[in-house]
Amino acid sequence: MIGVISLDRRGAERPGHVRPDAGEAELSYVFLPEAWGRGYAAEACTAVLGWFADAIPGEPVVLCTQTANVPSMRLAAKLGFIEVERFEEWGAEQWFGMWSPVAVSG
Ligand SMILES: CC(C)(COP(=O)(O)OP(=O)(O)OC[C@H]1O[C@@H](n2cnc3c(N)ncnc32)[C@H](O)[C@@H]1OP(=O)(O)O)[C@@H](O)C(=O)NCCC(=O)NCCS
Repeated sequence: MIGVISLDRRGAERPGHVRPDAGEAELSYVFLPEAWGRGYAAEACTAVLGWFADAIPGEPVVLCTQTANVPSMRLAAKLGFIEVERFEEWGAEQWFGMWSPVAVSG
């Protein structure tokens, strides 16, 4: 195993939402440092998003990462996430973005 990608429901108590009822599907990723810089995370996350778009058509996916996390910000942009808002959490500025299967296919 070289990394983990997860899709979880974002808790209503957290800041950052795109739906009034919250509970959005949220993408997270973490790879071992020796696997960075090879495009593995982008390839694997693209596959996860493709699977999700088939499994639950039309539902957006959200993502939250520190703005200081340059590789993660780059990956989010590469995957097609667009910025919704920024806020402070865990003592740092967070970037909150959304991916929509409609925006990607259309
Ligand atoms: C965030 C994280 C997954 C990004 O990993 P990554 O390997 O940089 O991401 P990618 O899979 O998109 O790979 C991109 C790099 O691979 C390079 N690459 C090399 N060969 C490649 C290929 N065949 N195809 C595509 N990209 C390739 C790209 O040029 C790019 O390098 P660059 O960023 O220097 O331009 C990783 O930094 C990580 O696990 N961090 C710790 C956990 C973390 O911070 N998670 C987010 C918490 S919210």
